[in-house]
Amino acid sequence: MDQSEKRLIFTAEDIARQVQRLASQISADYHGKEVVLIGVLKGAFIFLADLVRQLSIPAQLDFVRLASYGTATESSGKIRITTDVELDLEGRDVLIVEDIVDSGLTTVFLREHLLAKNPRSLRMCVLLDKRERRSVSIPLDYVGFHLDKGFVIGYGLDCNEAHRQLPGIYELIV
Ligand code: PRP
Repeated sequence: MDQSEKRLIFTAEDIARQVQRLASQISADYHGKEVVLIGVLKGAFIFLADLVRQLSIPAQLDFVRLASYGTATESSGKIRITTDVELDLEGRDVLIVEDIVDSGLTTVFLREHLLAKNPRSLRMCVLLDKRERRSVSIPLDYVGFHLDKGFVIGYGLDCNEAHRQLPGIYELIV
């Protein structure tokens, strides 16, 4: 891919500002508690790494990996867990950390899956709230950016596994 095929929409500085804002809000909301951050692999790995380093509260980390059957740019809505969390979430304050919510189907599935583990609370933090294909109503407690549409790459987000390492977020021009 050359430069003409992608358009920068959020710079690394834009992202860092939002991550700091979200971390401050989360630290204030969970004051006096220990939060369990659940990163959704693979896309959330960079966001989670940056977010957790800005928190001023105790935090524990775990990960889930999900697979959805679909194309490179659109999920089919059929989702399964390929790697589950290892920590015991019973009675814990759990915060899901996602890179992007698009249709919302992954989030609905994951919330149900995690709620079955009886956490004390379950909230959702997402860097990019993209509403173009939203087909379900879901509570997003912490949002970095809102996007109407577009296929985005960089800062953990991929296209066919490429471009995750870009420090900014780009819209793919097809
Ligand atoms: C992305 C993203 C969410 C999901 C959101 O993951 O990280 O998990 O899609 O889509 P939805 O709201 O339409 O369900 P992806 O399947 O691209 O996997 P990856 O994180 O490994 O790149």
